[in-house]
Amino acid sequence: MTALHVPVLLDEVMAALSLMPGDLYVDATLGAGGYFRRAREFGLGHAYGFDRDPDAIALNADLAGLDDVTLIQRPFAEMADALAEMGVSAVDAIVADIGVSSMQIDDPARGFSFQGDGPIDMRMSQSGMSAGDFLNSATEAEIADVLYNLGDETGSRRIARAIVADRPLHRTSELARLIRSVLGPQPGGKDPSTRSFQALRIHVNDELGQLDAGLLAAERLLKPGGRLAVVSFHSAEDRRVKAFLRDRSGSAPASSRHQPLAAPARSPSFQRPAKAVRACVAEIARNPRSRSATLRAAVRTSAPAWSSAVSQAAAKKGHRA
Ligand SMILES: C[S@@+](CC[C@H](N)C(=O)[O-])C[C@H]1O[C@@H](n2cnc3c(N)ncnc32)[C@H](O)[C@@H]1O
Repeated sequence: MTALHVPVLLDEVMAALSLMPGDLYVDATLGAGGYFRRAREFGLGHAYGFDRDPDAIALNADLAGLDDVTLIQRPFAEMADALAEMGVSAVDAIVADIGVSSMQIDDPARGFSFQGDGPIDMRMSQSGMSAGDFLNSATEAEIADVLYNLGDETGSRRIARAIVADRPLHRTSELARLIRSVLGPQPGGKDPSTRSFQALRIHVNDELGQLDAGLLAAERLLKPGGRLAVVSFHSAEDRRVKAFLRDRSGSAPASSRHQPLAAPARSPSFQRPAKAVRACVAEIARNPRSRSATLRAAVRTSAPAWSSAVSQAAAKKGHRA
């Protein structure tokens, strides 16, 4: 039995959500229910908990029968549609704590980790294409692009070549061994397969696409004065959240080369976001996972949702090496 996920920045997230009795609350990433259970202490009107992982829904089964709780096993990109199907079109607070839970990463059978041994799976939803399916069927160039773009892996081409030469690969231990043999020891003793495993996980779960769609869904769902809090653990995710909130609050730099010159003026759909919040030294000592967490929060205005795709130009990083 793996240890339960310890929620990160719990007090800071609750402060950002400013929950009030009677509020309609959405947790887009239920996980072990750490945020969800604390949020319910505020006397919510109704709490909706989304998770694409059936194990997370099962873990919170004790809540499922309560009148003021609805648990939904769907990706958060679909949360506006899922709530609309239940007759809910507006809510007061939405939180998303994106990425993997400790239960997922610590269970070798889920295949997320280069430590231990399990199938090369990595699917949060436990359905669809696994990381192993991808590695065993994609071209060398496709594999290299995923490792570089989503893991910042500068040895991506060499790793991809070795994977294609050695496949089919089935076990996480095989994959980790292969990456170690290609890259050799890393400065600081970090496992050489860290970046590649992260990249594969993000790819297989379309985590960046989910985040973009989830932000748009949150913009649609939040009432005027509604609060959004997003915790991310990866710079590519944080860049997207930051770019979205800067765009939507009208606080993107005026000189930004990413702003189209002739863009029509639109009313900000979010107030200027609060500064990013990171874990304090004491929390990092208690829970080392919190070291890379960033919380961004903002309050919805009464302007209509912008309805266009997320402006991701400002969130892009450098080009393929
Ligand atoms: C970091 S954990 C959340 C922990 C939670 N805040 C707590 O206090 O226990 C992330 C959870 O989000 C889920 N998840 C990640 N991406 C998702 C998505 N696009 N849609 C729904 N659930 C997602 C994962 O399955 C995982 O259970």
